[in-house]
Amino acid sequence: MYVESNDIQVIETIEELQKKLNRNERNHKTVGFVPTMGFLHEGHLSLAKHAREQNDIVVMSIFVNPAQFGPGEDFESYPRDRERDIRLAREAGVDIVFIPTVEEMYPMDGGIRILPGMQASELCGAARPGHFDGVLKVVLKLFNIVDPDRSYFGMKDAQQLAIIETFVRDFNLRTAIVRVPIVREDDGLAKSSRNVNLTTAERTEAPIIYRALQIGAQMFAEGADPNAIEQEVSDWIVCNSSGKIDYVRLLAYPQLVPVLEGTQEVILACAVKFSTTRLIDNIIMSTKDGTYVPYDDEQ
Ligand code: PAF
Repeated sequence: MYVESNDIQVIETIEELQKKLNRNERNHKTVGFVPTMGFLHEGHLSLAKHAREQNDIVVMSIFVNPAQFGPGEDFESYPRDRERDIRLAREAGVDIVFIPTVEEMYPMDGGIRILPGMQASELCGAARPGHFDGVLKVVLKLFNIVDPDRSYFGMKDAQQLAIIETFVRDFNLRTAIVRVPIVREDDGLAKSSRNVNLTTAERTEAPIIYRALQIGAQMFAEGADPNAIEQEVSDWIVCNSSGKIDYVRLLAYPQLVPVLEGTQEVILACAVKFSTTRLIDNIIMSTKDGTYVPYDDEQ
């Protein structure tokens, strides 16, 4: 085995990690990469499990990336627990956990920006200007540092995943991207590091988000119009919780444009703001079974 110790290795510098993962030293072992911002939950552990099954070496990064938080967003209050994360990563079979400081990742700003295309103009990209610039920046740096064969991303952040897939394809990045399904609590709430910031009352209300998306998915299967679906999902959330709608959108996936004849998959996605916590969730559906009524601007 390339990683000599049975125990997890915690690495904090880029130089040390690159030395460890140098292709000449890898000896043809495959590397699976799980980028995270820490405060691990079962969604992350599912990414690690998939990586463990498919690769010789599993690397997880834990880095709360300031570049993807806008002014007034929750960078400071984003939950962090280094020791618990290392323990959970070890239990999930991760070989190397990379935990750099902000100074290590961003020692200086040369001013170069990576701008995502049209896929970032909807959903969280519209609600959080600059967010995906920051995601692409850190993801490119991490891909260059780790040089993974496969990288694992969760479907909860479906827009992020779609943009990263495009980025990898358009720029011929070496890694394959593996999509991993959303992991949910028993009551349907999508697992998220941010769930701990919900008040008790908000945590009780939050499963309404997935319930509302399921109602929208049912309407979609019955051929309802996208506008009617978006309205119904919004109304459900507003009437049954204290959450405020950031967006509810039904779009072609992964293009993230309005649904047209010929669209094969659609995403019904929403973002809902509770007092201090913004939650996102989605359902992706196929249009293949003929239950989808083509979207018509004139309707
Ligand atoms: O999905 C996340 O946790 C982050 O956006 C990522 C991909 C680790 C980049 O900071």
